[in-house]
Amino acid sequence: MAILVTGGAGYIGSHTCVELLNAGYEVVVLDNLCNSSEKSLERVKAITGKEATFYQGDILDRGILNKIFAEQKIDSCIHFAGLKAVGESVEKPWEYYNNNIAGTLTLVDVMRQNGCKNIIFSSSATVYGDPAQIPITEECPKGQCTNPYGWTKSMLEQVLSDVQKADPEWNVILLRYFNPIGAHKSGTMGENPNGIPNNLMPYVTQVAVGKLKELGVFGDDYDTPDGTGVRDYIHVVDLAVGHVKALKKIEEKAGLCIYNLGTGHGYSVLDIVKNFEEANGLKIPYVIKPRRAGDIATCYCDPSKAERELGWSAQYGIREMCEDSWRWQKNNPNGYEE
Ligand code: NAD
Ligand code: UFG
Repeated sequence: MAILVTGGAGYIGSHTCVELLNAGYEVVVLDNLCNSSEKSLERVKAITGKEATFYQGDILDRGILNKIFAEQKIDSCIHFAGLKAVGESVEKPWEYYNNNIAGTLTLVDVMRQNGCKNIIFSSSATVYGDPAQIPITEECPKGQCTNPYGWTKSMLEQVLSDVQKADPEWNVILLRYFNPIGAHKSGTMGENPNGIPNNLMPYVTQVAVGKLKELGVFGDDYDTPDGTGVRDYIHVVDLAVGHVKALKKIEEKAGLCIYNLGTGHGYSVLDIVKNFEEANGLKIPYVIKPRRAGDIATCYCDPSKAERELGWSAQYGIREMCEDSWRWQKNNPNGYEE
C-alpha cells in the first residue's frame, strides 16, 4: 500500500518523504511544482536510497488524480499541497481559496470515489487567531484569522471534520504546525523560498549568506520579555516524523483527531538572532522596524496531546534548528537552482 503525498516536492513534504521511505512506506508524490523543484525528490532519493513515484500535476485536476488512483494502490493521503504566503493571499484571495479549498474538495471527492478515506491535513497555528490562552492546547477555541491563507486552513479543518462526521469510515487527522524551520542534517534539502523571504529563518540565513543586507525586526514593543514576537519554532525533521506517527494513528482507525505539532517553547525574534549567531559563529545585523500587520505577540503550544496519543515529541532544540538551517543555506546559496 502506498501513501499519496500531495505537495511532496515542497519544504515539509520532501522531508516527510524521507521519513516515510525510511519507515518502509511506498510513496507517491503529486505536485505541480508551483513553489518547488523536482530536485528535492532527487535529494530524497540520494538520502534514502529509495524513490518516490512522482506525478507532476495539480490537485484541481481530476484527470491526474483518477490516473494516480488507477495506477497506484493508495491507502492514505498526506495533504501538503497548498499556497502558503500570507501577504500574497491578501492580494490574491480568489487564487488562495480556489487552490487550497477547491483543490482539497476535488482531492477528497476523488479519494472517496476510490474508497480511500484516510487523510492527514497540514493545518496551522494560524487557526487559533490571537490565541485565547498560552500555551495553546487543542481545546483552545479557533479564532479570527487575519488573512485569506489562514481562513483556507480554518475552513478546510471544518470541511474535513464535517466529512468525517457524516461518514465515520473516514479517518481525518488535522495537524496544526507551529513554526517549522531547520533542514535535513545532510545539508542537501531545506526551505527554498521564491524571491525575498517572508518568514524569519529564511530571511536570517539569506542575511548570513550575504544575499540580504540586514534583518528587519518587526516590532520591539510587544508584551513579551524583550518586546519582539515570540513563536514556537519546530525542526522540520521533527515535524516530518510527526506525520509518520499520525499514519500509525490512522492505521488504528482514529476517526477525527487534532494535534498541535510544536516544541512547547517560545523564542523571540532576538532569541533566534542570538541562537543563530552562537550556533554558527556569525553576526546577523538587524534593525528594528514597525510591527507587521496581522502579527500577534506570542504563540506557542502545549504539545502534550501529541505525546500522549501519538507517542511523538520534538527531539531537536533551537541550536540544531539554527545549525541545520545554515548548513542548507551555506551549501545551497540559491536553493535548488544550480
Ligand atoms: P511549500 O510551498 O514548500 O510546499 C507546498 C507544495 O505544494 C509545493 O511543492 C507546491 O508546488 C505544491 N502545490 C501548491 N498548490 C498545488 C496544487 N494546486 N497542486 C499540486 N501541488 C501544489 O510549503 P510547505 O512549507 O512545505 O508547506 C506545506 C503545507 O503545510 C502547506 O499546506 C502549508 O500551508 C502548511 N503549513 C506550512 C507552514 C510553514 O510555516 N511552512 C506552517 C503551517 C502550515
Ligand atoms: N519576523 C521579523 N522579521 C522578518 C520576518 C519575521 O521580525 O523578516 C518576525 C515576525 O514578526 C514574527 C516572527 O518573526 O514575530 C515569526 O515570523 P514568521 O513570518 O517566520 O512566522 P509567523 O509566525 O508570522 O507565521 C508562520 C507562517 C504562517 C503560519 C504560522 C503558524 O508564515 O503561515 O507560522 O504556523 F500560519
